[in-house]
Amino acid sequence: MTPLLELRNGTKEYRGIPAVKDVTFTLYPGEVHALLGENGAGKSTLTKMLAGVVEPTAGEVWMDGKKVELKTPSEALKSGIAMVYQETSLVPSLTVAQNLYLTDDKHFHRLRGIYIAGQQFLQSLNFHVDPTALVSSLGAGQKQMVEIARAVHHNARVIIFDEPTSTLTPEEKYQFFSLIDRLRKNNVSIIFISHALEEALQISDRITVMRDGEHVITDDTSNFDRDKIISAMVGRSLSDELHGTHKERKVRRAGEKVLSVQNLSMQNIVRNTSFSVFSGQITGIFGLIGSGRTEAAKVVAGVMKRNLFHGGQVRLNGKPVRYRVPRPAVRDGIIYVTEDRKTEGFFETMSISENIYLGALAGGQTSARGVNMREMKTIAEKWIKALSVRAINGDASVIELSGGNQQKVVIAKALVQKPKLVIFDEPTRGVDVGAIVEIHHLIDRLADEGIAVMVISSYLPEILQLSDRILVCRQGRIVEEFAGQKTDEETIMYAAVH
Ligand SMILES: Nc1ncnc2c1ncn2[C@@H]1O[C@H](COP(=O)(O)OP(=O)(O)OP(=O)(O)O)[C@@H](O)[C@H]1O
Ligand SMILES: [Mg+2]
Repeated sequence: MTPLLELRNGTKEYRGIPAVKDVTFTLYPGEVHALLGENGAGKSTLTKMLAGVVEPTAGEVWMDGKKVELKTPSEALKSGIAMVYQETSLVPSLTVAQNLYLTDDKHFHRLRGIYIAGQQFLQSLNFHVDPTALVSSLGAGQKQMVEIARAVHHNARVIIFDEPTSTLTPEEKYQFFSLIDRLRKNNVSIIFISHALEEALQISDRITVMRDGEHVITDDTSNFDRDKIISAMVGRSLSDELHGTHKERKVRRAGEKVLSVQNLSMQNIVRNTSFSVFSGQITGIFGLIGSGRTEAAKVVAGVMKRNLFHGGQVRLNGKPVRYRVPRPAVRDGIIYVTEDRKTEGFFETMSISENIYLGALAGGQTSARGVNMREMKTIAEKWIKALSVRAINGDASVIELSGGNQQKVVIAKALVQKPKLVIFDEPTRGVDVGAIVEIHHLIDRLADEGIAVMVISSYLPEILQLSDRILVCRQGRIVEEFAGQKTDEETIMYAAVH
């Protein structure tokens, strides 16, 4: 069979350093090909060469047995190759439907038409997204759905999904996988990048693993299991380290009540909800996307705009507070680590060091007034090492980092502020298996040090792994509380949907 799409001996260098080294990759018609590897392994870069986003330094792209030159993403799209990016590429100031029909000159200006068409199209995919909503008002999961819908809408023959499921709830994932099946049956070829190895094993026909920019192995999925993938990814067996984290641990007892939220309401997203968070403990919050978890956290931390804050009381160490902007919240020791790193997490054109140092300045953790370059370097180096951020050095700008490493910078920037209460919103989204372990250790350590920690996650194993107590959020309200080690996935999921 002739491959539909090929990269032949592809190399991409950035400033002389190869991100992808002499990799050959083939994609057959109607196959789902999972592309796996650690953060920074070169997965996104490889697929960007296939999608006309980056030009290979060396090597060739072949389609239908012919050499092609894909100079831009729209050229690639015309040849039938669409890419759903790891970081959203939607236009935030336009509506969902406008984004779907953006390149469609004929339709773009007929709003009523595209809203009706958009509604029908989204419904056919089983995506619950309002076509008239502004993209800026959507949560990360819904943005992802719009991205996916846009690729499908273009009738692509190849769709590259760069971590499509990390922002989806279990229900949405299920929909997504059945969508992949439908696409495969229609002979669409799919490249699927994910850190969720079980998903790759479940839905792919073949698996390719990369490490440090190089090709390690390509084989039929039936010849892989989780351990085999991991050792190909990291070049040694990590299974002891990974399983080690699942061992029984003591549940931490609640310290002081650091945060107390009473009858908080906001439009109809947060409905009269009440909960508390204690020092020296991890409080996990589980809920489906749209259940109001993120919004409640943002009100607490002053990240949500004031005009949206309707009622209720927030107390920090017993004292009523009402933050309208993040700054005073940060000064009082509340840090919100965003789920949406692209728009809220960092300044992408600034360096890693500058971003981390900004965090230190905001938290008043620096010695001098203003910027001290030496101090900036020291602080940044410490955190780059603590979180194993993979970069040439601290001067690299954040935009040059791989997705998982960007997430680590967001976390470093928050923790450098020495918080009393940290709210992590999806802390390990897009982070590889090894780095998840590192970030979980770090979160554990914060609680051990006496900090009040709140972890919002739609990834149930993460909630179960970390939490001393688990709060379940449904339709804008905390509806149930469980003791950390005394519950299981089914019980929590049941509480979240019923
Ligand atoms: N625009 C850029 N400028 C400089 N270096 C870059 C750029 N884009 C990527 N890199 C580097 O190339 C390497 C591979 O990055 P890539 O984004 O392909 O990794 P990845 O496998 O997709 O990782 P992740 O799982 O974290 O998304 C990384 O070391 C990254 O820092
Ligand atoms: Mg990537």
